Amino acid sequence: MRIHVHRTERGIATALADRLADALRVTPGLVLGLPTGRTPVQWYREIARRVEHGQLDLSRITTFNLDEFIGLAPDHPGSYRQFMERHLFAHAGIPPERINFLRGDAPDVEAECARYECSIAEAGGIDLMVLGIGRNGHIGFNEPGAELYARSHRATLTHDTRRSNAELFGGSVDAVPREALSMGMATILQSRAIVLVATGRSKAAVVQAMRRGRITTQLPASFLQLHADVDVYVDDGAGG
Ligand code: GLP
Repeated sequence: MRIHVHRTERGIATALADRLADALRVTPGLVLGLPTGRTPVQWYREIARRVEHGQLDLSRITTFNLDEFIGLAPDHPGSYRQFMERHLFAHAGIPPERINFLRGDAPDVEAECARYECSIAEAGGIDLMVLGIGRNGHIGFNEPGAELYARSHRATLTHDTRRSNAELFGGSVDAVPREALSMGMATILQSRAIVLVATGRSKAAVVQAMRRGRITTQLPASFLQLHADVDVYVDDGAGG
């Protein structure tokens, strides 16, 4: 894993937008995996700014988001789909038919997960997967446990994860769904390149364990050590 330390979140956002621009120069039809959470928000803002100024063209890319809450329709204000709409999709000029999402309100969860895996395969796999990390080491909604899932699946969320998502539900932890759909570990690890972003002191311990600790299902992000092309972007807080 290569580590890139930046003084500020702003510095990370700029570096990541540069990285995206470089990838687009090589592959204009890039297949991009995307995260939600607070961490990528500044990066999304920077992308939107560059698109608005004609410095970045996302009209040929395809996106796949990592995860979605079970039971929420794409227009639910707490859904990750709406989060992405607000922070990126409404401003980025990505053709709507190339935006892919797990549907939290799918009547048949297994069929929905299989459909998503097929769509990723049909798109030729993910070129660049951008990840955040939970304080407990989760990536997407692959939570720590005795076992991990290889492919897209139904996931039960830990209380801590629900608490960190409460902001999307007016601050109420009880309103956060208990389950979600998420890409699996193999879905993520088969991406050609992976970027993980972590900011703030509360992520310092987990970043250290992910990079230097043993590979364990109790810290799903530690499996990224098995991938040959991973860049980790941290600010001073998370890198310290
Ligand atoms: C959420 C998401 C993850 C995200 C993580 C960190 O629950 N499912 O994909 O990376 O938690 O979120 P944040 O960036 O807000 O710390």
